[in-house]
Parts: sequence; structure tokens; C-alpha cells
Amino acid sequence: MPVLKPALFSLFAASSLLTTACTSGDVPTKLTAKTEMPARVITKDDKFTYANYDEVRLTHIDLNLDVNFDAKALDGIATLDFERVKPEANMLVLDTKDLLIKSVRLFAGDTPEAESEYTIDAADKVLGEALRITLTDKTDKILISYRTSPQAEGLQWLSPAQTAGKEKPYLFSQAQAINARTMAPLQDTPAVRMTYSATLRVPDGLRPLMSASQGEIDKNGEYHFDMPQPIPSYLIAIAVGDIKFKAINDHIGVYAEDYILDAATEEFSETPLMEEANTRLYGPYRWGRYDLIVLPPSFPFGGMENPRLSFMTPTLIAGDKSLTNVVAHELAHSWSGNLVTNSSWRDAWLNEGFTSYVENRIMEDLYGERRAVMEQALDMEGLKRAISEAKRPELTHLKLPDDMEHPDDAFTLVSYIKGANFLFFLEDRFGREKFDPFLKAWFNDNAFQSVTTEDFITYLHENLHKDNPDALTRAELDAWVYGPGLPDTARKPESDAFKDVTRLLGTWLAGDSNGDEMFEASKKWSTHEWLHMLNSLDDFGDIDVKNLEVLDTTYSFTGTQNAETAFAWYMQAIKGGYEPAYPALEEFLKTVGRGKFIYRLYGALKDTGREDLQYWTADVYDAARPGYHPIAQRRIDDILKVEE
Ligand code: BES
Ligand code: ZN
Repeated sequence: MPVLKPALFSLFAASSLLTTACTSGDVPTKLTAKTEMPARVITKDDKFTYANYDEVRLTHIDLNLDVNFDAKALDGIATLDFERVKPEANMLVLDTKDLLIKSVRLFAGDTPEAESEYTIDAADKVLGEALRITLTDKTDKILISYRTSPQAEGLQWLSPAQTAGKEKPYLFSQAQAINARTMAPLQDTPAVRMTYSATLRVPDGLRPLMSASQGEIDKNGEYHFDMPQPIPSYLIAIAVGDIKFKAINDHIGVYAEDYILDAATEEFSETPLMEEANTRLYGPYRWGRYDLIVLPPSFPFGGMENPRLSFMTPTLIAGDKSLTNVVAHELAHSWSGNLVTNSSWRDAWLNEGFTSYVENRIMEDLYGERRAVMEQALDMEGLKRAISEAKRPELTHLKLPDDMEHPDDAFTLVSYIKGANFLFFLEDRFGREKFDPFLKAWFNDNAFQSVTTEDFITYLHENLHKDNPDALTRAELDAWVYGPGLPDTARKPESDAFKDVTRLLGTWLAGDSNGDEMFEASKKWSTHEWLHMLNSLDDFGDIDVKNLEVLDTTYSFTGTQNAETAFAWYMQAIKGGYEPAYPALEEFLKTVGRGKFIYRLYGALKDTGREDLQYWTADVYDAARPGYHPIAQRRIDDILKVEE
């Protein structure tokens, strides 16, 4: 039987805080009699899975796969162990997407049962195809022989020409949010945790890595991996390529293609300090090794927190450690997300908001308050924009609505930065002395569990608020969690450094100075100040292309190697119609696949409404698209689609 967590009791019930009636149907409202702690009822709350995880739950998946670059397919057998939540359950429903299922065999212990009856539903564009397997009373293991599709959204197969080394192909996966089902048949919901093991066969000269043990090669040339800690399916990951390794210390290191290995190891050399800070604040790192792999530039994210092996974009290698907050972020997920996991994507802020909060605390610890506040201020600028652009107000709640079209809708700056700011708010109200140990206990008490927003609220009340009832009201909390936009109780990050930047920029744009003062001051600016300056340009009214020209001549933004600065500059160049930047912008769009940059650049190009630019954009996208990750292709197809 699964280990069930005790039910959590109604939030703030019987407390002085219960001043407003709960308005959201999601909030636990009934008071449970506290005679005994009943077992947690497993309810199916994740709409993005077909899995019947309230009846049967996977406990382990073993993958035995050929990595076939010619066919662009993973081909082999998945062996599933499971437990019955409902003893009478006689059906297992799995998620699959674009998989070719060749056979399904049932086992009772080591004894094979009859070939199983199974059905595969018609495909849903987002969710894929449910695989329904009829179980006998004795079945406790299932072998599924299958093959992935070359179009699998979770896998990008790169030709040698698309790698830096140009000689060998490369494969990497991206399972979050719901693409593990394009890699293997499984219960693709963060509510279910499983251990996993894998045996991989790869072409000679290529090295496979997984979000697991480092991988041992046996005498047959097969690689073996093991992840003995239970993780949700979205953290299963694979990378295969001409990958080299360089250690930072005895349990932290960097994997990358040769061309960038030394630079990446240097860029990420402070990772051990980040790990120390995290451990000091939130308890031990529980996953053994922590390595980083720098992927090819088409990787669609800044970073991905695959356990033991964060996947990172090469655009972080700026040469000056100015973008290492992404390392702090992915490492922080080892506590917030990987250890304590949102049980559905509606609760994504429990992963991303907590992680963004921890990230900022780590940055403060390593580099001081000045940098941490600059990062808060940049994030806040982004959050305000994201809130104003939200497709509907419910998407600005921390607890997201249950009718999101795609889990991607959960990963906006609302989950990240509104989420982090909710925790800043709690920190400010309760004080660090109380809030830090509280958060540490949250990670510890819920380790290897999947949790909901309501679990957090109940835990907050039981462990922090009950003894400090004046620190916040129920209405304040509701405004953060179940209300739209940014509550007025939010922290207002004030960066003196940014105020200077704004003042210097403002006087120059107003014609009150010739720019010399800004030029002098800028010699000491960090990436953060440059980003603030560039992002502020359009706060002073429409951008004058002449000003862009002066800025570019003075500061040489076009073609800059810092990807964040380049992105911020190209955004303004597009809005201001500054054409000399277009060739470098084109190059950027054709070489960088990181969604955070390219989605907004394509969006801004479209938003200009300029017909000539639409043709230019379409041509650039046509050329760049084959090199983009399938996730990015889907997103940009959608951004550029012609509205009917
Ligand atoms: N888990 C995310 C990446 C992700 C989100 C993958 C949604 C798939 C779906 C990762 O931890 C992340 O947030 N990366 C950020 C970096 C961060 C500093 C905000 C990114 O990729 O930019
Ligand atoms: Zn994250």
C-alpha cells in the first residue's frame, strides 16, 4: 500500500483569521473533527493526465532503450511496477503521446500472464493518447514494448551540423510539463512519484547522461542508470552527445561539448557556495551529486532542474558570472520542486515561486543585498508587464484555474515572481528568524511528497500563523493566493543603483544633459544596470530611433555577447524600428533557441504590425524553425499564426 500522508485540516479554521468567508471553491472550508488524522484521500486533481492515479499508482519505471539517431527514436521496453490504491482496481490508465505501442505483457511476480488486453484512445492534441490496460488480480508488473516518434515533443534530435563539434549527433529531452509521455508510457502527473532505472545503448563515441546516477558502462557497452529517490515523471531526463566532464569539486561538476567546457566550469565555479548557502538555510542537499550540463543553444529554457543534473542553456556563459542566478534557481529546485512538488500544474507557484524566492535568497547570500534587490526590481518590472498582458484575470492568481488550456499557461511570471513575492511578504510579516526555519521545516516535513496550495496554507497556519496570529489576515492571504494581480501588500524593491540609472537616462532623453554623465557612470554598471536602462527606455514615451542610434554608437549593443543584454536591446530596437540592429537580431534568432528570448522577440516583431517586417520575420522563422526545439516550434507557430 502507498504511504499516505495524513489529511491536512482546514486552513485557519477556528482561528481569529477566519474573518472572510472563503470565496474560492478550492479552499478547504469544512472543519474536520480533529479526533484522528484520517489518511489523505487521493483525489484526481490533475486535468492534464489520463492516469487513474487515484486507483493505481506507478512506483518504479525501468527503461531499456536503444537510442537510435538514424530513426530519431528511443526504442525498447518500459517495465512498470505499481501499487493499488484501490485494492479492487483492474485497470491501469497511462499517458502516452505519439508513441508506437508494440506489445503489453503482464506479470505476476516473475510469472508471465496472458498478453494483455489494452486499448489506445484517439489522440488529443494536448494530452496525447490514453493507454488503458486491463489487469488481473495478480498482475504486479507490466512490460511495454514501444518506440518514440521522431516528432516527440519531449525530444530534440540534433544532426552533427547542429552541434558545436559538428561531428556527432546530439539528443536531449525536456519532459516538463507534460512531455514525459512522449518519451515513455507512464503516469505523467506530478502527483505521482516513482523511482527509475535505465539501460541505454548508444552509438560508439557518444555518452549518455540521465537525471540519475552518473551512468556505468558494462562489458557489452550498455550504460546503466539508477534514480533511487521517487520523482515525478517530469524530472526524467536524458542527454546523449559528444559530452565531456570537468569537476568543480568532489560532487559538483559540469558536462558540456568541448568548445565550452572550460568557460562553463569557470562561469559556474560558485555553485558549491550556492549549495552551501542553500543547505544552511533549508537543510541538506539530498540527491548525492549535483552536476550541470550545458546543452546546445536550441535548448528552449534557461535551465531545467533535472535531479542531480540540471540542464542549462549556453546563453548563461556571459564570461562574468552575471547570469548565474539561473544556477541558483535550478539548484534551489532540489528543495522546492524536486523534493516538495506541486501536485498539479495549477499549483505551479509551489515549484517556481518558492524556487524564485530561494534563488533570490541565495543571490543575496553570495553577492549581497545590492545585487539581490536589483534582481527583485528587474523581476517586478517583468511581473507587472506579465500581469497586464494576461489572457484572463484568473491566470494571475497563484492558485490557477482548473480550465487552463495547456500547462504552459502555468509558467508565467505570475507563478515565478508573484509567487516569490508572496513569500517575501510572509518573510516581512513574520520576520526572517521565524520564516527561515519555517521554510526549512516545510521542505523537510514534505520531502518526496506532492502537495497543493491548500496544503501549504494549512501548514502555514499550523506552523507559523497560529502562534503569530497578528502577522497577517485571511483576507490578505486570499488576495495573494486566490485574487488577481499584485496585492498592494507587495514589497516594493527599491534599488538605489537603478534610481541612478533612471535619473541619468531621463535627463539625457529629456535633453537636459549630453549623455556624458551617463557614459561616465556606465563604466561601472553591471549587466543588471544595463538591463534596467534598456528596459526603461520606453517608459519615457515612444522610442526615438535617433536615440537608439546614439546609444548603439556609444555602447555597441548590437551584437553584444551577453544574451540578456542582447535580448533587451533587440526588444527596443524592434519597438523603435532601429534597422541597423536587424542583421544581428536575425543572427540571434537563428542561433538562440531559448524561449524566454525568442517568444517575445517574435511577438514584438508581429506587434509592430509593419507589413515589410512580417515578411522579414516569416523568412527568418522559416530558416530558424528546423533548428528550434519542438516545444519552441509549437509556441512560435502559435505566436505568429494568422488570426482568422
Ligand atoms: N522548470 C523551469 C523550466 C520549465 C518551465 C520547463 C516550464 C518546462 C516548463 C526552470 O526551473 C526555470 O524556471 N527556468 C528559468 C530560469 C529561471 C531563473 C527563471 C528559465 O528557463 O528561464
Ligand atoms: Zn524553475
